[in-house]
Order: sequence, then C-alpha cells, then structure tokens
Amino acid sequence: MLYLMDTANIEEIKKGFEFYPLSGVTTNPTLITKEKKGFKEILKDIRNIIGENSMLHVQAVGRTAEQIEKEALYLQEVVGENFYIKIPVTPDGIKAIKKLTQKGVKITATAIFNAQQALMAAEAGAEFTAPYINRLDNICGDGVKVVEEIISLYKLNGLNTKVLAASFKNAEQVHKVALCGVHSVTLNYEILEKLLYHPLTDISVDKFIEDWEKFYGSGKLTT
Ligand code: E4P
Repeated sequence: MLYLMDTANIEEIKKGFEFYPLSGVTTNPTLITKEKKGFKEILKDIRNIIGENSMLHVQAVGRTAEQIEKEALYLQEVVGENFYIKIPVTPDGIKAIKKLTQKGVKITATAIFNAQQALMAAEAGAEFTAPYINRLDNICGDGVKVVEEIISLYKLNGLNTKVLAASFKNAEQVHKVALCGVHSVTLNYEILEKLLYHPLTDISVDKFIEDWEKFYGSGKLTT
C-alpha cells in the first residue's frame, strides 16, 4: 500500500518526506487556499521538496468539461513530471476524463462516494479513483464498505484502476481500508504519526536504552 500526504502545507510536507515512506502528495482547492499564497508558487515549492519521482495530484476547479480540460493542460505545464489532475465525478468530470485520457494526461477521479461512480470513472480512463472515507462515515455511511465494493468491481471487470482512499480522521479507518487491499491512501501528518504510535513501543525503547546505559554509559555503541 502506498502512502501519500493530503496537504498543501510546505512544512508538513518537508517533515512527512523526511520521516515517512511517502509516494506523493494530494491537494485539493480547500487545502491550497488555506496556505494563503499564489497556487503556482505552492505547487512549485511542493515539487521541489518531493522531487520529480513522487506523484503530485492537483484538483481542477472548473464546472464544465471544457474548463476542466483547459485547467488540466495548464497545471500539467506548471507541475511537470508525475502530475495527476484530480477531477470530481460529475457528468462534466467524466467527459473531461475521457478527453484528457486520449491526450495522455494522468487522472485521479475524486469526490467519490459510491462504487458506481468509481466504476464509471475507471471505464472513462482514470488511473486512480479517490473514495472519501470519513465524509461518508460522518453521515452514517460506510466508507470502508465502498472501498471494498470498488476493489471487487474492478476485479470483476478486469480494470487496473488503482484505489487511492482519501478523507480519513483516524488510524482505524486507514487500517480497515488497508485490510481490504487498497492500493494507496492519502493522509495528513497527524494520522501518519498515529499509525506508527504505540505506547508499548515507547516504553520498550526507553527500557532498552536505560539498560544499555546502566552498563555502557551513553553514546558508547559507536566507539
Ligand atoms: C481527497 O483527495 C481529498 O483531498 C481529501 O482527502 C478530502 O479529505 P477531507 O474530508 O479531510 O477534507
């Protein structure tokens, strides 16, 4: 399972890429506007930090297929290698996915809340589809079940589209989609930390170091 970071915050991305095995960054219009800077500057800064080999997913804001298409081609120029245009699964979004696929632009279909939306986006040519887990769970939906259904529909239809699960508020949601065999997840820094945290790990590390230092003193392993 690949881990991506869902943020446009440069400091978080720096920390994330320093500590964790990340494959890329996803942003959305809300995350970008939070940074209160020019969007091109933000995207270029992100690209500089993550390098050309990491994926950068950026969302279109147009409502019509024509506008989405224009934005995708423009953003591709700005972002360069490993760029994915995120397109919401509206009828215009699907039309844009079909057109852009023919032009060789890589697509992440987004704002997905049921498996039929994900199936349609995959058939239209999306390379990734992004179901939103927590936004569904918040209204008594079942985000994990939707992921399970998408994965089985893709298998049944022989589709190679990858599921990039998004919108998480806790580590348990991530664990459950991981068990379904999801291809990738996009997370904020706090959830990355929570996935790794266990109090017994910290207690164990403290005890190992304490025992070591009682006998050898500190800093004696390399001398
Ligand atoms: C997905 O690509 C979106 O950027 C994101 O994960 C939505 O998350 P939220 O529900 O926390 O806003």
